[in-house]
Amino acid sequence: MESISSDEVIKNVASKVKAFHDDDTTGHDWWHIWRVWNLARRIGEREDANMLQVELAALLHDMDDHKMAHSDGENLPNARKVLLDCNVEHTLLDGVLTIIKQVSFKGAGVDTTPTSLEACVVQDADRLDAIGAIGIARAFAYGGSKHRELYNPNEGPNMHSTFAEYKKSKGNTLNHFYEKLLLLKDRLNTPAAQELAISRHSYMLGFVEQFLGEWNLDDKP
Ligand code: ADP
Ligand code: NI
Repeated sequence: MESISSDEVIKNVASKVKAFHDDDTTGHDWWHIWRVWNLARRIGEREDANMLQVELAALLHDMDDHKMAHSDGENLPNARKVLLDCNVEHTLLDGVLTIIKQVSFKGAGVDTTPTSLEACVVQDADRLDAIGAIGIARAFAYGGSKHRELYNPNEGPNMHSTFAEYKKSKGNTLNHFYEKLLLLKDRLNTPAAQELAISRHSYMLGFVEQFLGEWNLDDKP
């Protein structure tokens, strides 16, 4: 069988991933994947990572996410099927699935340190897209899609210590900033991502301060 180039594999995978995420309205649409893919390329090149593994894992990282309907985070059937349909050989397929399993945030008190450079890169790229102006927009889009309140002053944040607890949380979206988004800056793995996080993090801090000021009517006239 004629062998196909890495670029062609990436292109074929990207087109299947785009079709899969096209209808999403939870902040996990194709453009989230596209941004994570771009960020992962930028960070991965700086870190001298294996770029074929990085690009494929970035593209496929949310196809079996626990927040999606019928997800299976252990076997990753959707990502596996795309890789098999694109004739990706078994060692590369296993490598990419191993990276994907290490990407997701699992609760404030749960250690999710990746074990390979490539997983560090993809996890950082995904986390950068959860913070800053885009992160704010995605958090409220996700919250709306799950019928969550914007904020509720009677409900404090919950620093989940297990993935099971984090998964079943139904908290308001402003709490999510304390439970996850504001923690991410200090949990990034690579210097390139840490640099990109600085302005995104301070923008979120300003947003939360402004939001609570408006809520409590203590903003200056
Ligand atoms: P991860 O797998 O690490 O959760 P994703 O790419 O799936 O990363 O992105 C998660 C997105 O979903 C983020 O933008 C995040 O703000 C949003 N999200 C997850 N849980 C909540 C929640 N409880 N409230 C609001 N937004 C949430
Ligand atoms: Ni993601």
